[in-house]
Amino acid sequence: MEKTVSGFSKMSKRQKIEWLATHFFDNPEAAGQALTAWHRPDEQQQKIIDGFTENAISNYTLPFSVAPNFMINGKVYAVPMVIEESSVVAAASSAAKFWLDRGGFHAEVLGTVKLGQVHFRWAGAPERLKTLFPELKAHLLGAIDDLTANMRQRGGGVLDIELHDMTALEPDYYQLRTSFETCDSMGANFINSVLERFGDQLEYFIESTPALTDQERDVEVVMAILSNYTPDCLVRAWVECSEAELEDLARNAGLPGHAAVDRICTAVRIAEIDPYRATTHNKGIFNGIDAVILATGNDFRAVEACGHTYACRDGQYRSLSRAWVENGIFRFELTIPLPIGTVGGLTALHPLAKQALEMLGNPSARELMMIVATVGLAQNFAAVRSLVTTGIQQGHMKMHLTNILHQLGATETEAAAAQEYFCRETVSFSAVRTYLENLRAGG
Ligand code: MEV
Repeated sequence: MEKTVSGFSKMSKRQKIEWLATHFFDNPEAAGQALTAWHRPDEQQQKIIDGFTENAISNYTLPFSVAPNFMINGKVYAVPMVIEESSVVAAASSAAKFWLDRGGFHAEVLGTVKLGQVHFRWAGAPERLKTLFPELKAHLLGAIDDLTANMRQRGGGVLDIELHDMTALEPDYYQLRTSFETCDSMGANFINSVLERFGDQLEYFIESTPALTDQERDVEVVMAILSNYTPDCLVRAWVECSEAELEDLARNAGLPGHAAVDRICTAVRIAEIDPYRATTHNKGIFNGIDAVILATGNDFRAVEACGHTYACRDGQYRSLSRAWVENGIFRFELTIPLPIGTVGGLTALHPLAKQALEMLGNPSARELMMIVATVGLAQNFAAVRSLVTTGIQQGHMKMHLTNILHQLGATETEAAAAQEYFCRETVSFSAVRTYLENLRAGG
């Protein structure tokens, strides 16, 4: 009980740090200093960051990196990426350069529909509810004018409401499945406010409809919430070129002719048919996607959840990308739902998200969908290309060498010597440690 607390959220930040340092750390003074060291000197900006969540005591730093040379539909972007994994940005940059010389990336938005649900119970006959539904729908749509005025001005709003009878799966259970256009915002708050209003108005409508019996007037709204599964908020990115333009891939890997392209297509096919490989394959895609999502202040949990559900839309978890050769043309494409925004949420509040969006030319949500999907595709291409040629560790460990050198306390001179030496040698933690020991012993 000594380590429990009440009123933690009411404490000042300093009090919180002191309490934590005393109760959970061996050296409270050092812990207190370490936790405080990452506060921003600009107090106003620190206040904004603290406002994002409850009980913020410090800032957790991740590198804000850039992958340049992304040509998408003829326009060149320098793409901001926030990620800790050593080789991800290098891989994205290398794929961007690779495709820059082969016509760049192509992308198109296939849809922007967002979804939400009001889940409710009603014990009457389903047919009765279905007959009443047109009147109910008109009532619901007429009850949200104040909430949707701004969104309608921007060209969005509620698109449709459907009644879904779920009673075959759960007694008395129905859904109002509602579709939305939220323009440049992700729209979570807008959608949830509308859905909660629908919940209240559904109860009001059912309870005050004279044609219903007393028993039929009993409706129970269980919950009203957006769905993070938005299969119709969809974007496709692809690259294509002649097989001949990829011959250097095989040559550089010491493979004959079209072997590299062949292996890339087989590797992607394996990820289509085997969920174990598909999970890792898609993880590689999300390496790129999450990094841009984070950099631009979007919700990476929403994007991940949606993408993984989409990946098993036919009942088996599969690759989100596809690769094939037709008439001598190699095509590699990614189709993925991306419910994201470029206004609202953190996008204008987080100091670096703002910079990230400006770096991208302050894109619309549709344009950002295309950029994000492209980076996911580039990341996937880079990973699969390495896997089927040199293997992943060569590039990964080269990047990770810097982390190992930091961990082993290498000086700048030692690090420079090690970087030079490991250009030719295989990197591993023990190899670097042995190298440094020898260097320090004058060997
Ligand atoms: C590592 O973060 C991602 C990869 O495993 C993806 C893949 O295997 O395709 C390299």
